Amino acid sequence: MKRLALSVGLFSLQVSLVASLTGCRGDVSEDPPILLERNMFQQERYDPQAFSPFFEDHRSMRSPVEGTVSREHYEADDTIATGRLLDNSGYILTIPNAIAGRLGGPDKMVQRGQERFNIYCTPCHDKTGTGRGTVARVPNGFAKLPSFYEARIREMPDGQMFSTISNGVRLMPSYGAQVPVNDRWAIVSYVRALQMSQLAANTTGADQGKK
Ligand code: HEC
Repeated sequence: MKRLALSVGLFSLQVSLVASLTGCRGDVSEDPPILLERNMFQQERYDPQAFSPFFEDHRSMRSPVEGTVSREHYEADDTIATGRLLDNSGYILTIPNAIAGRLGGPDKMVQRGQERFNIYCTPCHDKTGTGRGTVARVPNGFAKLPSFYEARIREMPDGQMFSTISNGVRLMPSYGAQVPVNDRWAIVSYVRALQMSQLAANTTGADQGKK
C-alpha cells in the first residue's frame, strides 16, 4: 500500500515536471521564444530618445540630412503644391484640373473632401462651416471664427484657401504637415460645395418671397 502511494506520488511529480517544462500549445508566455537559429531577433539597438556614445551630439534620433525631400509627399507641380501662380504674383482662382483626375473624378474629390473636412476642420469650423465648432464654443476660449458664408471667404481664390489650410493664417494653425496635398485641395472643393449649397438655399428663399 505504501509502495503504491509512493509510486502514485512519483508519477504525479513527473507529470507536473513535464508540464512545467514543455508548457501547453497555445499558452501565453512572457518568456522569449526558444530559437535555435537567432538570425536578427536579437541585436543591439537604440530606444527612442536614448543616449548614443557614437554621435557627437549624443542623440540617437537623427534628423534627415539637410535638403532631404520626402518621396511620399513630394509635389512636383509648384502651382498644385502652393496654390500660387507660377510667377508668384497671386493665388490661382480655381482648383487645378489634375486634382479631380488624381482622386477619381469630381464627385469622389468632393466626397473625399467632406470626409477630411469632417476630421480636420469641424472641431473649430463645425460641420457646416459657420465657425461654431466645439473648440470655438469653449467659454472664453479660442477665438471668434469667421463663417465660410461671409462674402470675403466665398470670394477668396481657391489657391488662397488651399494656402490657408497648408500654412495657417493668424490664429489658425497650419495643417500642411497632417493633410497631404491632394486632400487639401479636396477639402477646398468641399468648402465650395458647402458655400454653394447655402447660396442655393438663399436664392430659393428669395424667389419664394417674391412670389
Ligand atoms: C484649431 C482650430 C481650427 C481648425 C481645426 C481649422 N481652423 Fe480654419 N480658422 C481657425 C481660426 C481661429 C480662424 C480665424 C483666423 C484669424 O482670422 O485669426 C480660421 C480661419 C479660416 C479661414 C479664413 C481665413 C481668412 O483668410 O480669413 C478659412 C478659409 C479656414 N479657416 C479654413 C479651414 C479649413 C479648410 C480647415 C480644415 C483643414 C480649418 N480651417 C481648420 C481655426 C481653425
